[in-house]
Amino acid sequence: MILLKGPEEIALIRRAAQIVAEVLATVGDAAQPDVTTDELDRMAEELTRKRGARPAFKGYRPGTQSAYPKSLCVAINEQIVHGIPSGRKLKAGDIIGLDYGVIYRGYYADAAKTVAVGQVSDVASRLIAVAQKALYAGIDQARVGNRISDISLAVQRAVEKAGFSVVEEFAGHGIGRSLHEEPQIPNYFRSGMANPRLQEGMVLAIEPMVNEGTAALKILRDGWTVVTADGKLSAHFEHSVAITAQGPEILSQLSDA
Ligand code: MF3
Ligand code: CO
Repeated sequence: MILLKGPEEIALIRRAAQIVAEVLATVGDAAQPDVTTDELDRMAEELTRKRGARPAFKGYRPGTQSAYPKSLCVAINEQIVHGIPSGRKLKAGDIIGLDYGVIYRGYYADAAKTVAVGQVSDVASRLIAVAQKALYAGIDQARVGNRISDISLAVQRAVEKAGFSVVEEFAGHGIGRSLHEEPQIPNYFRSGMANPRLQEGMVLAIEPMVNEGTAALKILRDGWTVVTADGKLSAHFEHSVAITAQGPEILSQLSDA
């Protein structure tokens, strides 16, 4: 069942999403050579608790999986998503996906971005730009009367037009009282897939994962880290978005206030 949210609920998700946006801005700026991913994780958790919220991913246990051990997900280079922070130091030329979620007064928000550490290759910066553009192309379809496939196809087209591929095993999702709610929002579409109509009051976490090479992936022995099967680069962007009568509202965009 897809849970529609009223204005009060959206206001709480908006507040949660602003905390996520602030954390991602600070942590993204801190992603410099020689910084460890554990340092970024601690920074994210501290900023979150100072704002009266809690990290959403720490201890999260989807299905039969082990509990996620950290607050932040950091995906370096060929890692697609769910990289676990560690003592590993970032180095110039890395691209790193930062994926973060919080819970605030019972409501979740979730967002991600990929940033360059120092100077990166041309293909790395193109991959980042295309993944971000694909996210915004998807968000632009998050309108009353459209369907999930309008989002999925806009993302897929933006990626494939650039010669890159979309990951199929992971998808965006509804968000609110839970981190993952219905509907699923795949980043590709084929006929026969579930395809609900979009309605006012839906809040969606839209999150393309874009690979430089093949879409195929592997999961590392830690049970979490998802990597490209061919070892080539991957980039990930995500926003939590409310569908309003006036169009999509990007809740996890840093506001000027
Ligand atoms: N943005 C990711 C998602 O929606 C983050 C989940 S990480 C986990 O699935 F640790 F919470 F699983
Ligand atoms: Co998500």
